[in-house]
Amino acid sequence: MRTAICPGSFDPVTYGHIDIIQRAAKIFDKVIVGVLVNVEKKPWFTIEERTDFLRKTVGGLENVEIAGFDGLLVDFAAKHQADVIVKGLRAVSDFEYEFQMALTNSKLNRQIETVFLTTSAENMYLSSSIVKQVGLLGGDIAPFVPECVRDEILTRIAKMR
Ligand code: PNS
Repeated sequence: MRTAICPGSFDPVTYGHIDIIQRAAKIFDKVIVGVLVNVEKKPWFTIEERTDFLRKTVGGLENVEIAGFDGLLVDFAAKHQADVIVKGLRAVSDFEYEFQMALTNSKLNRQIETVFLTTSAENMYLSSSIVKQVGLLGGDIAPFVPECVRDEILTRIAKMR
């Protein structure tokens, strides 16, 4: 059985993440979505909220599990008997950082491979921070995030005002 980890901050989950998780779930027997607990950049949403959004959006896929993690990603993967890390690659700009992380992870644990899925064309530009920025500036975020996530972003923005 082949288990893969889809790691991220998911602050919050976007259609870009959902696309990668759905596609990974078709390739691997089991996919564990690893939600980073202590996000360096101050997150908008708590680990419980970020996990809850993922449960609502991809929790219905029968071979997908969602779990929080802290510390090294390779340790989280090993703990779950996963030997693949799946990342979405958007533009060339993602490449250097992702390459650095993949090489570091490979040095830390040779058993774990990083696999990149190219993002679908319609999600090329998408990131959680862009979605939050568009929302803060009053733009329509419906094309970027599911309705339940959009509602929570808008509630958060309303509280900031
Ligand atoms: O969604 P993000 O913020 O781009 O996800 C980044 C993530 C969670 C994949 C990355 O920060 C990570 O793997 N953190 C765990 C710490 C770790 O293992 N560091 C060493 C490898 S670079």
